[in-house]
Amino acid sequence: AYGDLLNQARELKAPSLEEVVQLLSPPTPADHRALQGAADALRQETLGDVVDIRGAVEFGNRCRKNCHYCGLRKENHRLSRYRMDNEAILAAVGDVYALGIRTVILQSGEELPEATESLVELIKSIKKQFGLRITLSLGERSFEDYRAFRRAGANNYLLRIETTDPEVFERVHPDDDLQERKQHLLWLREAGFLLGTGGIVGLPGQKVASIAQDILYWRDLGANMIGVGPFLPAEHTPLENHPPGDLDLTLRAVAVTRLLCGRAFIPATTSLATLHPDGQRYALEWGANSIMLINTPETYRANYHLYQKKAKVDLDFACRSIKEAGRQLPNYIQGVTC
Ligand code: 5AD
Ligand code: SF4
Repeated sequence: AYGDLLNQARELKAPSLEEVVQLLSPPTPADHRALQGAADALRQETLGDVVDIRGAVEFGNRCRKNCHYCGLRKENHRLSRYRMDNEAILAAVGDVYALGIRTVILQSGEELPEATESLVELIKSIKKQFGLRITLSLGERSFEDYRAFRRAGANNYLLRIETTDPEVFERVHPDDDLQERKQHLLWLREAGFLLGTGGIVGLPGQKVASIAQDILYWRDLGANMIGVGPFLPAEHTPLENHPPGDLDLTLRAVAVTRLLCGRAFIPATTSLATLHPDGQRYALEWGANSIMLINTPETYRANYHLYQKKAKVDLDFACRSIKEAGRQLPNYIQGVTC
């Protein structure tokens, strides 16, 4: 019966919550492997074997929010805070450019509204100097800000919904509202961005049905990029003693997202790479087609502390996963062969 559902999955017009829950719950080890095979085959047919590589610069770790899971939360006074200036950010973006990468991701905690002007200048400078595609991951800002960033030349915006389960969402987000978060994603689309979103697997109180609901939300939204990773505990946060998300459940979530969300770009997340030494390769084998390198300067890396023992995802690391998964590095990457 699982096999039948799996065979239908790609053609399902409007999958029901119950069907998605079943897809996420293969009853036997053979069914678990069949899910992997189906997601991998669909990825192969639609997107091919080349793994898309992007570079991230985590340019600041100050945040005005207090998400319970995150090491950057405002009330974590044990973290030393930094904010690179535009000149330093441009230098780090230059390193990304030198690798041959075409998309840079600018990520930070949620900064104050005052940051807008300097961010707009930064976006313009990157466009002018490097002509890179720019993905922003800056948290929730005003609609006006989104429009200003888009006009300045940014292309994509990454804003994870984190979880669509109202109770779970509320419990871990003292500053946020689920409906508002959804509204932000609509504003981002209206401002002209390609949308990246995604979620965390293993939050307290989260059920398999919560994750099924997340996948249906990503599908309905028509997200271009969907990042799914396990919860990992961060010290000095309210969830520091909560267990990490389950590896197999996270991989199943990646696979079902692949089956139900068409040609979306699915990254093999840093959190999966951190949870398990082979997590990045597994993700590639379960439907993922993209890797985000971390190009934050060495001095700041340790302070971009979302969770403990974050894996050092550089080109060597990515090359190893790509090779082990039998996949290919894109030909735009310069001077390296895996
Ligand atoms: N475990 C897993 N993912 C986390 N993130 C933040 N903290 C954690 C954690 N402890 C994720 C959030 C955020 C992204 C940048 O990092 O999903 O959107
Ligand atoms: Fe801030 Fe984002 Fe961390 Fe929440 S998840 S505390 S908004 S950096």
